[in-house]
Amino acid sequence: MSSKTRSELVGFSAPEFWIFSSPEALTGVWGKGNRLKDGFEVIVAEKDGRVVGFIVFKKERDHVDIDNLDITKDEQGKGIGRALVAHVESIAKSCGYSLMKTDTTENAQGVPWKSYGFWTKMGYKDTGERLRTKYDFKTIPFIKNLK
Ligand SMILES: CC(C)(COP(=O)(O)OP(=O)(O)OC[C@H]1O[C@@H](n2cnc3c(N)ncnc32)[C@H](O)[C@@H]1OP(=O)(O)O)[C@@H](O)C(=O)NCCC(=O)NCCS
Repeated sequence: MSSKTRSELVGFSAPEFWIFSSPEALTGVWGKGNRLKDGFEVIVAEKDGRVVGFIVFKKERDHVDIDNLDITKDEQGKGIGRALVAHVESIAKSCGYSLMKTDTTENAQGVPWKSYGFWTKMGYKDTGERLRTKYDFKTIPFIKNLK
């Protein structure tokens, strides 16, 4: 599945993020069941037997971290991203968590990656921090308190 193009990502993402760019690349980091080797869990959205999106998350000590969310280009804007986020939040709540975290990036010009507005719409708050990376882009952390 393809949710974004390489050229779109220039300035916003590190090469290692490409593990999420194709099923083949993802297979290389897969562990057991729905878990990746580093303990992250993956939930997919299917339509007519086809994977049209996935969300990657990890239950940390005091919060649940959403590491990645991708909806295939032709299915974006149809509520699938919202549904996957809501699903992971409901798992988090049922496990007793009250705090969610995620992040996106901004490029060297301070322009945020295009999902910024999606996260704020989902109730995630920009913490105001801009964390340097070894690349040109900075990380923008978001938090959300679950009620
Ligand atoms: C960002 C992404 C995950 C959103 O998922 P989606 O299924 O397209 O979004 P939804 O249809 O569930 O949208 C939910 C709401 O967010 C809004 N929204 C979606 N994308 C948005 C964006 N880029 N900016 C602002 N608002 C956005 C929608 O308009 C909708 O609002 P509404 O309910 O008022 O109509 C998806 O577009 C995607 O995979 N993009 C490329 C990969 C990516 O950026 N992933 C996030 C990594 S940080």
